Amino acid sequence: MPFPAYLVTDFEVLKGMEGNRNAPIEIDRKEFQKLGYQLVDRIADFIDSIKDRPVTTTKSQSELLKVLGDNSLPENGIPPGELLSRTSDLLFNYSLLNGHPRFLGYITSSAAPLGALADLLAASVNPNVGANILSPMATEMEKQTIKWLAEFIGVSPSYGGILVSGGNMANFTAFLAARTAKAPITIKEEGISNTTDKLTIYCSKTTHTWVEKAAILFGSGSKSIRWIKTTASNQIDERILEETINEDLENGCRPIMVIGTAGDVSTGAVDNLKNLAAISKQYNMWFHIDGAYGIPAAVIPSLKNLFNGVTEADSIALDPHKWLYSPLEAGCTLVKDPQHLLNTFSSHPEYYNFSTTEGETSRNYYEFGLQNSRGFRALKVWMTLQQVGRSGYEKLISEDIEFAELLFALAAEHEELEAVTQNLSISTLRYIPIDYDSDLENEYLNELNVEILNVLQSEGEVFLSNAVVHGKYCLRACVVNFRTSKHDIEEIIQIIVRVGRRVHLELSVS
Ligand SMILES: Cc1ncc(COP(=O)(O)O)c(C=O)c1O
Repeated sequence: MPFPAYLVTDFEVLKGMEGNRNAPIEIDRKEFQKLGYQLVDRIADFIDSIKDRPVTTTKSQSELLKVLGDNSLPENGIPPGELLSRTSDLLFNYSLLNGHPRFLGYITSSAAPLGALADLLAASVNPNVGANILSPMATEMEKQTIKWLAEFIGVSPSYGGILVSGGNMANFTAFLAARTAKAPITIKEEGISNTTDKLTIYCSKTTHTWVEKAAILFGSGSKSIRWIKTTASNQIDERILEETINEDLENGCRPIMVIGTAGDVSTGAVDNLKNLAAISKQYNMWFHIDGAYGIPAAVIPSLKNLFNGVTEADSIALDPHKWLYSPLEAGCTLVKDPQHLLNTFSSHPEYYNFSTTEGETSRNYYEFGLQNSRGFRALKVWMTLQQVGRSGYEKLISEDIEFAELLFALAAEHEELEAVTQNLSISTLRYIPIDYDSDLENEYLNELNVEILNVLQSEGEVFLSNAVVHGKYCLRACVVNFRTSKHDIEEIIQIIVRVGRRVHLELSVS
């Protein structure tokens, strides 16, 4: 059959290209080696010097834009060596360094250096871990990673799951599995809007914002969430939880899910998971634990009791990119009966030939979560878990907790600081001026501490974040940082007091 004319024209272009193609994206072996060695040398210097650098850049966004330049996309390519050198300068010199020993903000850990090498390796092989046939060894390694994570936190290794980008996605994945399991069976065909049941979700008012996003995005709406009050110790109030469930049942709602938190984002409090498991069971609800931050602490034998009930969870979210020190991005959803993930996410389009490999059932991760094509984010977790080992993590996590406790104790001792809460590796405190008149409004203290935090975050000596605890605006330190030392903690106290005095003086005269 003759070629259609338009194809023949294209083949003309290929004449003389029988051998190697001159692809402007390819880098030959020698050049790759040279660039790689140079980059690795620069990264090694960067990691080695991290503690002597400011925690964050002091440049404004417009100054950063000037440094970056506002050029259009180049018409012709730039040599990769030049690009790598300039890009390293930009990133090393103008970033917030969460690997700095005095970065204790939000819940972003210092990243395991081995994770950086693992990402390079993963990107070099570039397996698509959406389907077994596209990622034969990588799929096995992800399966093993999930089994190890289950063992790590003390649940059965038969929990199944999937690695995702982080805590939000790990919780979303579990949320959707719970909904499939507990909503009317017709939900897949009829959708949420065609069910008369008001699907209802229960969690403490300190639960991370992911739950609101999930309720809005997945159609149940933010009004389907019951934000249960917390006790003085910031745990969900179980009495109010049960009263609310009963009221809802009387009003024709369909309670589907209780969410317990193992390490809440503001104060690190862990709900009584055992009691929540019992309540979920009593009302035939799905029991999910958001352990994105805190659940790795279950590896410490003396903390086992705090996490009692974890084995009864239907699903658990945990984030290797938080307390397992993996570089971003790595979250994980574990589900007691992984069939719920398949029930929720599996589909079999005719254009996929993924079902079996040599008679065995294939593990196709596209059937376990929201993504289709998937990168090999499991590799950095798989490697770091082995590099550090269970005992190594026990040591690192215990030390992080000890440093957070030390910060709290030093604040409690200091006459210008109030130590507010301490759980796991999160401590909250606030600055109170020595001349503070206790009759004055809490409002001033809140205003003062907001300003202190703004100054701390912009000056690059230390990076903390904030929490509002029972109406008090607090400075919050979360130690998920294997580089932080006792000396850093002592210095942080001095920096807070120094900045606190200065800001108070400025506010007093303004
Ligand atoms: C308890 C908890 N859940 C979920 C999340 C969301 O995690 P990510 O930012 O990785 O999506 C966080 C983030 O800090 C968290 O602390």
